[in-house]
Amino acid sequence: MPAKQKRMSNRTFTMIKPDAFANGHSGAILDIIIKAGFRLVALKMTSLSEAKAGEFYAVHRARPFYGELVEFMSRGPIIAAILEKDNAVADFRKLIGATDPAKADPGTIRKLFAASLGENAIHGSDSDENALIEGDFFFSGLEKV
Ligand code: CMP
Repeated sequence: MPAKQKRMSNRTFTMIKPDAFANGHSGAILDIIIKAGFRLVALKMTSLSEAKAGEFYAVHRARPFYGELVEFMSRGPIIAAILEKDNAVADFRKLIGATDPAKADPGTIRKLFAASLGENAIHGSDSDENALIEGDFFFSGLEKV
């Protein structure tokens, strides 16, 4: 496998969501991520318009929680990042815990910082393919180091 392709398969994308950002947990969450061995490839603080949040979560458009999700994700600042590590997608989903914090394992980011299924502190890509799509949604090639 060419070196570049191999590296891509070991990247994931994350967002610290508006609830965690507003509650002042961004620094603690980034610390956990870095200490777990993820390298920061790209990082930015930004905010999503309703249109952009709707686009990012378009796959959930038909779900009953879509409107609530879009409203929440456009409520305030977020931190977006591309992360690199062997087995990045699976390892990162393990680090953040189940989507519903009530079901997340002790010590996971959602167990530590999330309040509910809808407002669950952090996003992590669910596949290598989506990691690439989601990273490209936020970052240009020049922003990835
Ligand atoms: P995330 O991993 O970012 O991917 C989709 C998001 O939709 C998910 O985290 C939750 O924030 C949200 N979500 C998923 N299921 C529900 C639900 N049943 N009710 C409200 N929000 C949900």
